[in-house]
Amino acid sequence: MHTNYYKIDPFDPDIAVLTETAAMLRQGQLVAFPTETVYGLGANGLNVQAVKAIFQAKGRPSDNPLILHIDAVDKIYTLAASVPANALALAERYWPGPLTMVVNRRPLVPDAVTGGLDTVAIRLPSSLVARELIRLAGVPVAAPSANTSGRPSPTTAQAVLADLDGKIAAVIDAGPCEIGVESTVVDCTTPVPTLLRPGGITYEMLVEVLGEVEIDPTLSGAQAIPKSPGMKYTHYAPLAPLFLVEAEPITATALLKRELNQALATGKTVGVIVSAELAGSLPPEAIAFVYGPRGDTAAIAANLYTALRSFDNKAVDVIYAEGISDQGLGLAVMNRLRKAAGYRIIRL
Ligand code: TXA
Ligand code: MG
Repeated sequence: MHTNYYKIDPFDPDIAVLTETAAMLRQGQLVAFPTETVYGLGANGLNVQAVKAIFQAKGRPSDNPLILHIDAVDKIYTLAASVPANALALAERYWPGPLTMVVNRRPLVPDAVTGGLDTVAIRLPSSLVARELIRLAGVPVAAPSANTSGRPSPTTAQAVLADLDGKIAAVIDAGPCEIGVESTVVDCTTPVPTLLRPGGITYEMLVEVLGEVEIDPTLSGAQAIPKSPGMKYTHYAPLAPLFLVEAEPITATALLKRELNQALATGKTVGVIVSAELAGSLPPEAIAFVYGPRGDTAAIAANLYTALRSFDNKAVDVIYAEGISDQGLGLAVMNRLRKAAGYRIIRL
C-alpha cells in the first residue's frame, strides 16, 4: 500500500487536506495524525473492519482496547452509558487536553474497540489538527499511538513512517508533538477514580479536582493483574536493551559512570540518555542523547521517545538512562522509562 504524506501547519491547517483525510477515515482507511501527546493511528471507531485494521497494522494484541477520540465534550454522551459526576468535573477542567476517561459504554461501541470490556476509554484532544480532523470525519476516531506494538510511541511523522510506511493510507505531519508522552488514563467507573496510566495531566492535577485518586497497584511495580489491559505488554522499547538508573543526582552520576566504564571496558558500543548537567562528565566514547536540563520535566517528556528511538540507527549494544523524580510529569516519564527498560533498574 502507498502511504500518502501530507505536511500541514499545526496552527493554520489546510482545510482541503483535513477534508480529504477525514473522508479516508470515514470510509474505513487508516490515517495517522498528530495530537498534543503523540501521533495517533486513526480509524472510524464505529467501523469494525477499520478498527481491526489498526490491530493488524500495529501488530497489537486484540485484547488491548483503544481510545475513542471526540471533538466536543457533549459527544461523550453518545458513547457512554452514564457519565459519573467525577468524570464531568474532570472533563470541565481538563478537556480538551491529554486526559482519557474510562466510562461504561453504550452498546453501539464495537467489541473490537473495547476488547470486549463493558467500558470505553474516551478522549477529547486539544490539538487543533486532531480536533478538526475528528469533526470533519463526523465519527468517533479510534486511535492508539501510531507505532508498531511494543516500540516507543511516535512524536513526529518521521517516527510514524519508520514503523508504518506502506501499512496505512496516510500520515498528516504537523511537526513534533508538544507534550511527548501519552494522555493520562483514569478509570471513572470506580467509586474513587483510579489512575491507570500517568500522562500529560499529572496525578497532582487530578487530585486538585477529585480530592482523592486511587493509583492502580501495577504502577508502583507491584505484581497484580493490570486493570488497563495495555499495561501488561512490553512497551516503549528501543532495539537495544535499556538499563535505568534511579537515584538522587549525585549518586546517579556515580552509578552511571561506573556502569558506562564497565560496559565500555568490555568493548561494547554504549548509548546513554542523560540530563544536560550530567552530559559533560561522561566518558567521551559513550554516545549521549541529552533529553533536557534536570528539573525541566516538560522538556524531558517532549524529548523522551525521540531519545529512545535515536539509538535504533546507531548499532549500540546497550543503553543507559538517567532517571528523574516521580513528581508531576516525572511520573509519566519514569513509568515509560521503567517499562522501556523491562524493569532492569540500577539502584544503589
Ligand atoms: O495520548 C494518547 O492517549 C494517545 C493519542 C493518540 O491520543 N493514544 C494512546 O493510545 O496512547 P494507546 O492505545 O497507545 O493507549 C491506550 C491505553 C492502553 O493502555 C489501553 O489499555 C487503555 O488505554 N485503555 C483503553 N480502553 C480501556 C478500557 N476500557 N479500560 C481500561 N483501559 C483502557
Ligand atoms: Mg501505545
